[in-house]
Amino acid sequence: MKALVLSGGSGTRLRPFSYSMPKQLIPIANKPVLEYVLEDVKALGVTEIGIIVGSWAPQIEEAIGDGSRLGVRVTYIPQDAPLGLAHCVTLAKPFLGDDDFVMYLGDNMLPEGTADIAGEFRAGRPAAQIVVHKVADPRALGVAELDTEGRVTRLVEKPEEPKSDLALIGVYFFTSEIHRAVASISPSARGELEITDAIQWLLDDGAEIKASEYQGYWKDTGRTDDVLECNRYLLGSLRPAVLGECDDASRLIGEVRIEAGARVVRSRIEGPAVVGAGSVVEDSHIGPDTAIGQGCTLRDTRIRDSIVLDGATISGVPGIQGSIIGRNATVGAGAHVDTYHRLVVGDHTRIEVAA
Ligand code: TTP
Repeated sequence: MKALVLSGGSGTRLRPFSYSMPKQLIPIANKPVLEYVLEDVKALGVTEIGIIVGSWAPQIEEAIGDGSRLGVRVTYIPQDAPLGLAHCVTLAKPFLGDDDFVMYLGDNMLPEGTADIAGEFRAGRPAAQIVVHKVADPRALGVAELDTEGRVTRLVEKPEEPKSDLALIGVYFFTSEIHRAVASISPSARGELEITDAIQWLLDDGAEIKASEYQGYWKDTGRTDDVLECNRYLLGSLRPAVLGECDDASRLIGEVRIEAGARVVRSRIEGPAVVGAGSVVEDSHIGPDTAIGQGCTLRDTRIRDSIVLDGATISGVPGIQGSIIGRNATVGAGAHVDTYHRLVVGDHTRIEVAA
């Protein structure tokens, strides 16, 4: 079995970050989303991975390389424009050949893994095995209607009145039958070749489509609030350790990880929280639910429930929460600050906060 990981797209919902970096590289608990995806694929015993890349190809290739660091072999497949998930399958045909494959959206997080579902697919080899998840309101998602055996009877995109609460999420298993389907469908009203149309085409053609319910935590990290929620979830299973320095005047409370080369001085770090390699935290109060990247500087600052990307500097800001601070951004104090502020700041931005 091979894997096709989709890491192109336009990421409009994650602006301003997606102006300066691909959303699949946004760090959650200090690791890019795409790395979690590749680790899950590897856990399925799949090491031949094609990654669809769009205009951010150079950044993605720089971060992931040939995959050897993660124990996989990566082939990059360029996509000129985000013309849909099924379009990605057509582009990947030379890489996939006639092999079975798992298709994984590069911005989807399924931390509990999909090994059981891959096992079901390998045992039964239906034309497609989709992964569904119970959601409170599936109206913005693709919805699967199933019979009692778990066979899919119908797929409905964004139904106004859903007949089921099982939404399709970002992992699909296919045999080579999918290639006939993607070659037969036409672009949807939004101009994309939709994977749900290809699966519906297989259903109409009499193929067997199965669905498996993923019971664990799932998040599409397409928006900043989703990224922060996922960060909270993953920090919940953080492995605490002090690999860097922490002076006697500082207090670490709960699950805290201080990476090598980081320095914590006269500060209080309340877990779950991680301070990345080479970062400096002075006279500050960090956490809970906060991930500080590498090479950051935080001084006289109070920050919680936030993500700070590599190289950012924050000083003299006593109340930051629910925020994502982009790479190399600078956040400084204005004249009179006495309340919490909420910031979603892109790379290389400079912000001064006044009361
Ligand atoms: P989406 O999040 O559905 O699309 P998008 O990235 O364009 O985001 P937005 O809606 O915010 O503009 O895409 C799901 C995943 O699939 C994501 O990792 C990007 C990837 N993708 C491709 O690689 N090629 C494509 O043509 C599309 C549509 C998505």
